[in-house]
Amino acid sequence: MPETPDLAFRRRHLLAIEGLHPFEIADLLDCAEGYVAHNRKSDKKLSTLRGLTQINLFYENSTRTRTSFELAGKRLGADVVNMSVSGSSIKKGETLIDTAMTLNAMHPDALVVRHGESGAVALLAHHVRCAVINAGDGSHEHPTQALLDALTIRRRRGRIEGLTVAICGDVLHSRVARSNLLLLQAMGASVRLVGPPTLLPPAIETFQVPTFTDMREGLEGCDIVMMLRLQTERMQGSFVPSVREYFRLYGLTPDKLKAAKPDALIMHPGPMNRGVEIDGVVADDIDRSAILDQVEMGVAVRMACLDALTRHLRDGD
Ligand code: CP
Repeated sequence: MPETPDLAFRRRHLLAIEGLHPFEIADLLDCAEGYVAHNRKSDKKLSTLRGLTQINLFYENSTRTRTSFELAGKRLGADVVNMSVSGSSIKKGETLIDTAMTLNAMHPDALVVRHGESGAVALLAHHVRCAVINAGDGSHEHPTQALLDALTIRRRRGRIEGLTVAICGDVLHSRVARSNLLLLQAMGASVRLVGPPTLLPPAIETFQVPTFTDMREGLEGCDIVMMLRLQTERMQGSFVPSVREYFRLYGLTPDKLKAAKPDALIMHPGPMNRGVEIDGVVADDIDRSAILDQVEMGVAVRMACLDALTRHLRDGD
């Protein structure tokens, strides 16, 4: 008998989009869909995670991811602890592994971790018994960002398959670009990478996607324009001649946007730098910009991830 695929996401951790099956991605998106409607109600409190403990451990700054994970856990009924790195013993020299083992000894059920080094969250996951969610590790992956972007696209366009998505800007340093590329391709979209040669990864041909160094050529006929921030905190040395020159060549303006489809959706993971990678007029276009939808979907997607990763606790496995 042919093996029936398991349609549900049943993993211990969510560390990356790489390796996820499209069925697992669809399961998380379908689950998040239910939470979108729930989050629009006045009474948002559920008891799905009642009695469970979630710790948010952020070694890098965050507005959207950290707040939405906190809201997600609280709306599902978990006890949520936000650990501030600046106020912790990490500042006294405690290592990542020692911090992980210390937190593990307090029996959390989910650990949400952001770290500046690629691979750090996966390393930490080896030292704890609970579910670990990667909230962004260096320039490696930001899986929940890609999931919330996918949910935004699916709701605004009704599908992901068959769409052409241009990911534009500082692809080299972007974990968002990497996770989105993997997820969108897995779900049947055509992805293009657009940016200056200095901000496209070396050996770009291994990505096996069309790449463009001319913004208008890259946007030609695309359905989704996904802009990326210049990740100056990950840059050593100069990658662009000047911010002014970068905006002139790669900033998304109404004029450059004319190259895309007339109804192309504008996305940005945030935080945005207006006048650097995006013109404020484009970002605030209420018909075409999905930037605030992305923020809303972030809470629903993170609720779905916490729900899925703790299912086995409720099933009594
Ligand atoms: N998109 C994103 O990760 O934003 P924050 O850095 O504010 O969490």
